[in-house]
Amino acid sequence: MTEAANILPANDENLSAAATRLKSGGLVAFPTETVYGLGADARDDRAVARIFEAKNRPSFNPLIVHVLDLPSAAQYGEMDARAQQLAAAFWPGPLSFVVPRRADSGLSLLVSAGLDTVALRAPAHPLARNLLTRFGGPIAAPSANTAGEVSPTLASHVAQSLGTNVDLILDGGACAVGLESTVIDLCGDRPALLRHGAVTLEQLQDVLGVVDDATRPADGQAPRSPGQIARHYAPSIPVRLNASDAVAGEVLLGFGSGVPEGVQNLSPSGDLTEAAANLFAALRALDSPEHRAIAVMPIPETGLGRAINDRLRRAAEAHNG
Ligand code: TXA
Ligand code: MG
Repeated sequence: MTEAANILPANDENLSAAATRLKSGGLVAFPTETVYGLGADARDDRAVARIFEAKNRPSFNPLIVHVLDLPSAAQYGEMDARAQQLAAAFWPGPLSFVVPRRADSGLSLLVSAGLDTVALRAPAHPLARNLLTRFGGPIAAPSANTAGEVSPTLASHVAQSLGTNVDLILDGGACAVGLESTVIDLCGDRPALLRHGAVTLEQLQDVLGVVDDATRPADGQAPRSPGQIARHYAPSIPVRLNASDAVAGEVLLGFGSGVPEGVQNLSPSGDLTEAAANLFAALRALDSPEHRAIAVMPIPETGLGRAINDRLRRAAEAHNG
C-alpha cells in the first residue's frame, strides 16, 4: 500500500459523507455486528462492478444486499411465510436469506452474479442502520477484504486489505459477533443452511422445523452457494486444528483455561461468543512468515462453536492441496 487508506470516525458528519459517496457510485466500508462490509449502491451496475474489482472477487460469487427491515427486503426478494417468521425472530441481526429475486427489484444483475435469487440481510449494528437510513436504498456489501482472506473485524483490517481501493472506511470499532452472517436458502421446499453463523442451525430449526444442513456439499454434489467453492477465510500460513500444543516453528492459538502463559487465547474462560469475536483478529495477528503454521487448540462443536470450527476448517483446508 503506497497511499494511506481513508479511515474516518463514524460520526454524523462522516456518516453523511459516506451516504453521499454511495449515492455517487462510491465504495464505503462500514461496520456491521458480524464483520465490516464493503458497500455500494445495489442498484448501480458500475458501483457493484467496482466491489468485484476492489476485492478481486470472482464475478460468479453473488453479494449480500443490506436493507433496514422486512418491508424493504420485500421490495427486492420474495419474502414468503418462512422468511417472515425468521425475520420476526432474528432481524435485525446476523442472518441472511437467499430468496427468489423479484423481477421488478431494480437491483443490479451483478449483485446476484447471474442467479435469479438474491441474498438479503437487515443488520443490527446502529452505524450500519444509520448509514442505510441516510442513504435511503439497498446497499450491496460483501465482507470488506480481498477475496480469500479472513474477514475484517476492525477498520484497520479493511485498510490493510483494501487500502485505497475503498473510498472511505467508517471506523466503528470492533465487530461484536466477529463471524459472517448465517446464510439460509429459502428458494426450495426445504430450507437449507448455506453458511454457519451466530444464528445457529438449532435456532433456525426451532422456528421452521426442518432445516437441512447444506454447508458442506456431499461428495460429487454441486455446492448450493457459489461462496462455498471459493478459497475462504484463510491466513497465508497453514492452520493445524485440534492441536494440544505447538510443534517446532508453529505458533499456538489457545482456547479455554488450560492454555500456557504468554499464548494468545481466544477466550480464557472458554466462552464461544468471546472466541468468535476474537477469531479473525487473532488469525491476522499470528499470520506471519516467522511461523511455519498456526496450531489451534480444540473448540467445542456446539452452538457458535460450529461456526468457529467451520471457518477454521476452511482455513486449514486452504493449504491442503
Ligand atoms: O456477515 C456478513 O454476511 C457480511 C456482512 C458485511 O454483511 N457479508 C458477507 O458477504 O460475508 P460475503 O459476500 O463475503 O459472503 C456472502 C455469501 C457468499 O458465500 C455468497 O456465495 C453467498 O453469501 N450468497 C450471496 N448471494 C447468494 C445467492 N443468491 N445464492 C447463494 N448464495 C449466495
Ligand atoms: Mg467474504
